[in-house]
Amino acid sequence: MPKTDNREEGDWLEAEPFRIKVVEPIRRTTRAERERLVEEAGFNLFSLRSEDVFIDLLTDSGTSAMSDRQWAGIMLGDEAYAGSRNFYHLQEVVEDLFGFPYVIPTHQGRGAENVLFATALGEGQYVPNNMHFDTTKAHVEHRGGIAVNLPIPEAYDPEADHPFKGDMDLAALDDFLKENGEQVALTMVTITCNSGGGQPVSMANIRGVSEICKKHGIMFIIDACRFAENAFFIKEREEGYQDRDINEIVGEIMSYADGCTISGKKDALVNIGGFLALRDEDLYQQATVWGVLFEGFPTYGGLAGRDIEAMARGLEEVTDEAYLAYRVGQVRYLAGLLDEAGVPIIKPAGGHAVYLDARRFLPHVPQERFPGQAIAVELYIEGGVRGVEIGTVLSGRDPRTGENIYPELDMVRLTIPRRVYTNRHMKAIAETVKRVYQRRDGIGGLAFEYEPPVLRHFTARFKRV
Ligand code: F0G
Repeated sequence: MPKTDNREEGDWLEAEPFRIKVVEPIRRTTRAERERLVEEAGFNLFSLRSEDVFIDLLTDSGTSAMSDRQWAGIMLGDEAYAGSRNFYHLQEVVEDLFGFPYVIPTHQGRGAENVLFATALGEGQYVPNNMHFDTTKAHVEHRGGIAVNLPIPEAYDPEADHPFKGDMDLAALDDFLKENGEQVALTMVTITCNSGGGQPVSMANIRGVSEICKKHGIMFIIDACRFAENAFFIKEREEGYQDRDINEIVGEIMSYADGCTISGKKDALVNIGGFLALRDEDLYQQATVWGVLFEGFPTYGGLAGRDIEAMARGLEEVTDEAYLAYRVGQVRYLAGLLDEAGVPIIKPAGGHAVYLDARRFLPHVPQERFPGQAIAVELYIEGGVRGVEIGTVLSGRDPRTGENIYPELDMVRLTIPRRVYTNRHMKAIAETVKRVYQRRDGIGGLAFEYEPPVLRHFTARFKRV
């Protein structure tokens, strides 16, 4: 595996490449308070008030800190129903960076997915992806389609130290398109691969997917939520990209695709927003019809002009290499602290989160007793840290058999918001996890007290067993 950290020796500039101009106080709670609060929440961290959380690692989505330049852009919102100048700014930035001339703003990522699948997916058609994110899969199924995951086998091995664990299995894709050609609506690749641990996809793999799609005449769309983090990994790890500019790498990634969906709440560094970008004018015209219906007139698409401006400016900022080195470096720093302490994590660290491997963390708690959820509850009690279970609770039940679906990996995601917490916070998180790990033998599992019929992870209540 190539060197993963190519910063110069003596480059102590690992410190955050920004200074803090506005602060938001966070409240410390006592352990006794947290014991009470989490019990009242039915041991479901989604039911806590955020004010009762000390360090919130539920998601990196919509939780970024905006820059002074983005906040200044908020004051320049043009709230015209049609033709807002902020839309034209966004369009310029997207065309410059991604090379796609057509942009439909949406209220967030799933809005873009809804518009895309309404336009391009028919009943009974397949969508292969390296791994679908939950909302993407849900939107495919909502349209009567079938979501298929085709990652490389290493994606499911928590200890496989592969530099591009988000890659798609190219041979499997080729076979799949050969067999189902007519019935495939489009192929997607998710960068970075969130459901696989925030793992990057290599340029060679993206190029490969593109060639296979072209051969079979299938459209290729990138789920680009974390495109800049993915580009940074390519620069670090892929032969031939060390001297390339991040913007150039992003441009090359997108040059292989017909378009992208994106949630601006991740790498566009905003609290709300997203868009669908396309290369083909006809497809854009068709998508616009659905865009108007679901999101709004094509130059505002479910967003205020000011939010579009903040998103355009976020896209201009996120490809800054000093920022990306800090960003990916901070996640890696936390992973390193946990690894040193012997805590079982998914390796290597992804771009936006560190994932605890719950089955190795609590080997005595069987999957039907939700080891990931049990760890997440203890992290809150121990240090006021709120992570999120990505495991059996989230996977739900098989609609035909009513049985729990047991995923290959039961995990707790510690998702790092962008530009929000310092490395001192990372130390506090690591200390919290270490303490819980040290007392792991005394931690038991959980059972449902109330289980809702759909999306059970959001509103379920648990009891200790
Ligand atoms: N695609 C990926 C890869 C995502 O991670 C998300 C959201 C979406 C699409 C949908 O975007 O939330 O703006 O509608 N991921 C968040 C998370 C929610 O916590 O991982 P959205």
